[in-house]
Amino acid sequence: MSAILVLHGPNLNLLGEREPEVYGRLTLEELDRRLLEAGKELGLEVRSYQSNSEGALIDALHEARLWANGVVFNPGGYTHTSVALRDAVAAIGIPVVEVHLSNVYGREEFRHQSLISPVCVGKISGFGWRSYLLGLQALAGIIQDQPGSL
Ligand code: DQA
Repeated sequence: MSAILVLHGPNLNLLGEREPEVYGRLTLEELDRRLLEAGKELGLEVRSYQSNSEGALIDALHEARLWANGVVFNPGGYTHTSVALRDAVAAIGIPVVEVHLSNVYGREEFRHQSLISPVCVGKISGFGWRSYLLGLQALAGIIQDQPGSL
């Protein structure tokens, strides 16, 4: 069975209470539960991990190359700042889909730039928790079509 890492970056542990008008009222726990269920239907094992620490996210990406077939990644605020996370995504050799709950292009200008996007297979933004779902579905397609799928 193919395995997917769903990786959540900084402040996403506060989903549900954090700026609900922007990010909704769903908790991270409920989001992860829905993705686990969706994964089962797609024939994917889904493991989720959240950290506020850039180093821990890098470690999780490095480890994922040893067990996962792809990553759904919401880098949170690090999206706009982290060369180190970009390098980690580029290094691991498995497909990574960048996802955002909010529509980053409809927000402050500093959110329009992503250092991560150029090294991802694609990016989904603005559909709330369904951005993750769409990312998971996209990865399922990529993995099933491998090699050379896109
Ligand atoms: C976010 C968008 C980022 O700009 C922000 O810093 C976040 C969440 C999103 O999911 O919409 O923390 O990644």
